[in-house]
Amino acid sequence: MTTTTAPLPPAPSVTTPEPLVSVRGLRVAYGDGPLVLDGVDLDLFAGETVALLGSSGSGKSTLMRSLTGFAPITGGSARVAGHDVGALRRGQLRGLRAQVGQVFQQFNLVGRLSVLTNVLTGALHGAGPINAVGGFTSADRQRALALLDRVGIAHKATDQARTLSGGQQQRVAIARALMQRPRLILADEPVASLDPSMSHQVLELLQEIARTDGIPVLVSLHVLHLALEHSDRVVGLRHGEVLVSAPTAELDADRLAAVYDVPPTDEQEADDVAR
Ligand SMILES: Nc1ncnc2c1ncn2[C@@H]1O[C@H](COP(=O)(O)OP(=O)(O)O)[C@@H](O)[C@H]1O
Ligand SMILES: [Mg+2]
Repeated sequence: MTTTTAPLPPAPSVTTPEPLVSVRGLRVAYGDGPLVLDGVDLDLFAGETVALLGSSGSGKSTLMRSLTGFAPITGGSARVAGHDVGALRRGQLRGLRAQVGQVFQQFNLVGRLSVLTNVLTGALHGAGPINAVGGFTSADRQRALALLDRVGIAHKATDQARTLSGGQQQRVAIARALMQRPRLILADEPVASLDPSMSHQVLELLQEIARTDGIPVLVSLHVLHLALEHSDRVVGLRHGEVLVSAPTAELDADRLAAVYDVPPTDEQEADDVAR
């Protein structure tokens, strides 16, 4: 019997998910200074929470800034939602930034404004000054209230933001970020000013949002055990280079200690959490 080669049936379509963020060989230097990021690779996929670890000065904030065009890219590339960030013009960058929710260590709320108004300002991203003056629609208000409910502080909607605890303020900041309908959330040391129990709650909330809404969350932390407990993947930076990049389940504190110049002692970790 002769065998003939028949054409193969079409392969079942295995759709490889595209990363929302794809950073390749990224180099960043401020002015004439040294490289603060030196050949960084990073992918962020829908639904995952990636913890960015590293000592102070290792380049965590710079890497986040490079995703929204706030860091001087001197080599390699950063692609976010299909855009080559380094090639975007000012107006295009504004459009990109409107799609990126940001959460900061110091919450960055307007303290004298109500919690609800703070959340509503998330809707102004990408809106021109006329919209900003024109006020908010009732649909905006309803959505802001629903988001406050989701983060567990709807009962504080009319309170001045500055009267809330740190953990509550960070929830407001997260609701504000969600108000943007973000495609990506960047959280730069979001729990560095919170006590341990608040830290866990806020990180749990971020991970829940990533999973439920399919939004990638990149969260920088300098406390190792928080990264191990509240992320799907860890990327460890040291002196601007990626030293570790692995699923969290495959990592432990010993392996991650390598990203620190001086491995943190348990006591320092406790201090860090308490700060
Ligand atoms: N705007 C800036 N101008 C000059 N140097 C900067 C600037 N921002 C950060 N750096 C330097 O870049 C390096 C990385 O800083 P950063 O990204 O803030 O690290 P991390 O967030 O991990 O602490 C540090 O050496 C810091 O001094
Ligand atoms: Mg930083």
